[in-house]
Amino acid sequence: MTAEYQVHGDVAVITLNNPPVNGLGLATRQGIVDALAKAEDDAAVKAVVITGAGKAFSGGADIKEFGTPQSLQDPNLHSVIRTVENYSKPIVAAIHSVCMGGGLELALGCHYRVAAPGCTVALPEVKLGLLPGAGGTQRLPRVIGVEHALNMIATGEAVPSDMLAMIPGQKLFDKLSASAESLPDEALEFARKVADARPLPLVRNLPCKHPQGEAYFQFARNMVKGMAKNLPAPAKCVDAVQAATTSRNFEEGLMTERELFLNLMFTPESRSLRHLFFAERAASKIPDVPSDTPKRDIRKVGVIGAGTMGGGISMNFLNAGIPVTILETRQEALDRGIATIRKNYEAQVKKGKLKTDKYEARMALLSTSLSYDDLKDCDLIIEAVFEDMGVKQQVFSKLDEVARQGAILASNTSTLDLNKIASFTRRPQDVVGMHFFSPANVMKLLEVVRGEQTAKDVLATVMALAKKIKKTAVVSGVCDGFIGNRMIERYSQQAGFLLDEGATPQQVDRAIEKFGFPMGPFRMIDMAGNDIGWAIRKRRAVEQPDMKYSKTADLLCEMGRFGQKTSAGWYDYEAGKRDAQPSAVVNKMIEDYRQQQGITPRKISDDEIVQRLVYSLVNEGAKILEEGIASKSGDIDMVYLTGYGFPLWRGGPMHYAGEVGLFNVVQAMKRFARNPHDDAKAWKPSKLIVDLAAAGKTFE
Ligand code: 3HC
Ligand code: NAI
Repeated sequence: MTAEYQVHGDVAVITLNNPPVNGLGLATRQGIVDALAKAEDDAAVKAVVITGAGKAFSGGADIKEFGTPQSLQDPNLHSVIRTVENYSKPIVAAIHSVCMGGGLELALGCHYRVAAPGCTVALPEVKLGLLPGAGGTQRLPRVIGVEHALNMIATGEAVPSDMLAMIPGQKLFDKLSASAESLPDEALEFARKVADARPLPLVRNLPCKHPQGEAYFQFARNMVKGMAKNLPAPAKCVDAVQAATTSRNFEEGLMTERELFLNLMFTPESRSLRHLFFAERAASKIPDVPSDTPKRDIRKVGVIGAGTMGGGISMNFLNAGIPVTILETRQEALDRGIATIRKNYEAQVKKGKLKTDKYEARMALLSTSLSYDDLKDCDLIIEAVFEDMGVKQQVFSKLDEVARQGAILASNTSTLDLNKIASFTRRPQDVVGMHFFSPANVMKLLEVVRGEQTAKDVLATVMALAKKIKKTAVVSGVCDGFIGNRMIERYSQQAGFLLDEGATPQQVDRAIEKFGFPMGPFRMIDMAGNDIGWAIRKRRAVEQPDMKYSKTADLLCEMGRFGQKTSAGWYDYEAGKRDAQPSAVVNKMIEDYRQQQGITPRKISDDEIVQRLVYSLVNEGAKILEEGIASKSGDIDMVYLTGYGFPLWRGGPMHYAGEVGLFNVVQAMKRFARNPHDDAKAWKPSKLIVDLAAAGKTFE
């Protein structure tokens, strides 16, 4: 039963019951219409209350249904709302909690609305690259005013019901109940009170005007243009709300909204954002770890190493109210680490993002130590010491001696073999990788590295904890670089070859930035430090002597050009500044290198640059999937969207490849493999991608 029907004396109550959030899929829509028909036929029923079971009144249209035949099948949301509006008896929406998208549109079709304080109210369709498509853009401005409505519609942000109830003259809520608990009784009482009211009030009959008309909408259009970057939906939200004020009648406004909605539904941007919505939620689920796996209690965290990563990692837990003890080898290192944490918090206080008392409360949760004895009562200990197997061995052997039984032992290693690290303990089942990204207090991504023996409850605990500290966690198996860095290496390899063949760092960066990355590979590595990659390449040269890459990166480091920190990298920088200026010295170094290699430079198109950079990610991603390092392609997309700046509206590399068509991607890879200056082995398409392309499928 997706819509339960009960009669309480002279009031019928229809309870939406389609877990998890009462999405308005076909069965639920049919359920509402059937229940309304029952109440219509029952002469004893004088009024109807529509409410929701569980955690939501309704989270809106069922997004899973988009693009399926059911989404078009009658009764659609429009016809349900029309049935509600034309009903002969009063219908009251009783909103106890989340009321979003189509759920709010349904409520706006009801004759009355009673809400509990603190309900989450939103028209969040814009976050899916859409606009409200069941009258939201036409009805919301009529009840809270054009400006408040447009703010909500163009940003998709949720507003608590009690704040909306304070808008002067608002007609969104007829009553706010004393509490969520008292809402059912108060809604019934309200329904009885209005049982005989006629004519029944309809939002569609309310006027909708803005005193400044066109001038206001022009201003709004400029505002969203700045915010929306490459997304078409926010500007269309402005158009739709404007139509509410300019259409000859309500129906005409609805038609405009419908047309705009349908156009957006078929844009690649909306498909990408919808993919992102589900991929984000799916990432937290591990196929062989059931959601009811018991979790360990994490009440205190230990962090080893107060360097670049240790400080940022600690801040995540302090922010979530979890006490942290940081351990170091020397007092100076501890002092430096703590000073950095303070500096970060103080910058937030200065910007007004953090209250002083909260800052102090967080610092009060932090303790420091030079002795492992102080980690004895920690439930989770995260190691963030030098990237050296010998040092990791020292740390984990010691942890094995001192940590309490059942404590989770995590490593933040970015390249080392987690299974080997786990083998330094007698409890490999308790060892897991927690690979934070720098700056660890800011970046959303957390790669959770699953060792061969990592216990399921350890994984379940870390995934739940990640949510608590507001990270997007993605599980990766053990391999060099895990998901993100293993793929970025292919991308950097291509960036180097592009220089060898005739491009400049500026051209490569410009092309990929135009595609949507916030920073191209050369500006990015200048920021991170060219010396880091140099050290890795030196190590790899021993392990993989046949590895092919452009030697320009090594030549750059030999010139001492490590990036922003030395005011010179692929670009020139004024001391202490971040503006990248093209460098004549670097361009000359690249030209000399080409000459030395006997390469005649050619003009390379921006399209080729983008394809080579992005498809190199795709092929490595496909191999990662094939090897089971990632369990779903959406996980790889989440890594790139949250950790590497892949443009959101393109949905991540794997989703983007599907949009281009895997057949086309494979053809391009074959073409690139024939380039004598490239790495034919790296371009050999993975079996997975070839099979999917042949079957006309995508990764999803
Ligand atoms: N349709 C289908 N499934 C939905 C859904 C929806 N509208 N909203 C949430 N879900 C699912 C999620 O996929 C997730 O499923 P899973 O457990 O299988 O992974 C489950 O509900 C729980 O979601 P969350 O983990 O996000 O739960 P929270 O409690 O943290 O948040 C929420 C609940 C606030 C409702 C949040 O899920 C949300 O913001 N949902 C999106 C709401 C939305 O965008 N609505 C607009 C839909 S489009 C529309 O209505 C078009 C109309 O104008 C015509
Ligand atoms: P860092 O050099 O800034 O800090 C390391 C800290 O560990 C130093 O303060 C050092 O005094 C301390 N330390 C060394 N040996 C120790 C020991 N035996 N006991 C206690 N403390 C000890 O290094 P960073 O950048 O913070 O890296 C730490 C780890 O995080 C490495 O494994 C690295 O690969 C990983 N990592 C680094 C990222 C980055 O961008 N810097 C990103 C993701 C992971």
